[in-house]
Amino acid sequence: MYVLGIETSCDETATAIYHAEKGLISHTLYSQIETHSAYGGVVPELASRDHIRKLVPLIKQTIQDGKLTPHDINGIAYTAGPGLMGALLVGAATARSLAWTWGIPVIGVHHMEGHLLAPMLEDNPPQFPFVALLISGGHSLLIAVTGIGAYQLLGESLDDAAGEAFDKTAKMLGLPYPGGPKLAKLAEQGQERFKFPRPMTDRPGLDFSFSGLKTYTLNTINSTEQTPQDKADVAYAFQKAMAETLTIKCRRALEQTGLNTLVIAGGVSANQEIRRHLLDMAQAQGTRIYFPRPEFCTDNGAMIAYAGCQRLRAGQTQNLEIFARPRWPM
Ligand code: KG4
Ligand code: ZN
Repeated sequence: MYVLGIETSCDETATAIYHAEKGLISHTLYSQIETHSAYGGVVPELASRDHIRKLVPLIKQTIQDGKLTPHDINGIAYTAGPGLMGALLVGAATARSLAWTWGIPVIGVHHMEGHLLAPMLEDNPPQFPFVALLISGGHSLLIAVTGIGAYQLLGESLDDAAGEAFDKTAKMLGLPYPGGPKLAKLAEQGQERFKFPRPMTDRPGLDFSFSGLKTYTLNTINSTEQTPQDKADVAYAFQKAMAETLTIKCRRALEQTGLNTLVIAGGVSANQEIRRHLLDMAQAQGTRIYFPRPEFCTDNGAMIAYAGCQRLRAGQTQNLEIFARPRWPM
């Protein structure tokens, strides 16, 4: 079964083909960074227009790269939400139209389920059950996963998502969009100087809150002369506080559930410092830990093709109504 995956929830247009037995066949991505960078963030209307321009050529290319023809495709999966409504509708309408034309089933996939399952695309995939930490631009979730579709929410962010906190802090430091990776780069020049709070780690529970950390960071920035070294030291302290907070919560989630496998995914899981902290903790505890390759941490079509393939194989399909949900609990 060849499944075409389509991702258009935010600022990446991405497509992939996943085969149930052969694995990932091909994948293509167009990033809209240049379109949005002049505005310091994603402009929803421009995102939709770019998806409209790029999606069909990308689908064609992905099919060609896989040395396939449209007749070979057995199912289509697209991101139905959460995300920007206009952007989602481009993927939803295209997926439904192609499915109708080609006479094949279609399924709308939850974007965070795509992220959650991204480590399954690697050679040595995790086995169920596991604890998953999903850290992206819109979500910070801790989930107990016992199988495809069997997700129990353990904790979530009460305010900003981890990626959002990275991006807002980057903006405060004068870094251009997209801020997260730029802040990580700047932190490489930083030194141990400021000690930032580890929010909500001194009380029980698995929820996160990052808005206080953001305010603390802003106050620290304002208390310095904002020399390049000051900024690098702030980036260093912020990133370390993030890494330690996420690590403490993951350790707690493993203890609470009695599980011994940890999966980390979502855009922020590309962060090397966060990976290092989590790896150290996992190693010390004898916990198995899994990350997607960096290009599948951030938004991509492969994770949607994979998640859709599992759901279609389980016999789940949807009718041809256009289905998109900008807000959609997992
Ligand atoms: O998963 P993703 O690509 O899109 C969403 O579903 O939101 O995540 C994007 C987020 C952005 O906030 C971006 O700044 C952050 O992931 N990000 C990073 C890094 N790479 C991406 N944050 C910190 N360090 C990185 N290396
Ligand atoms: Zn994402």
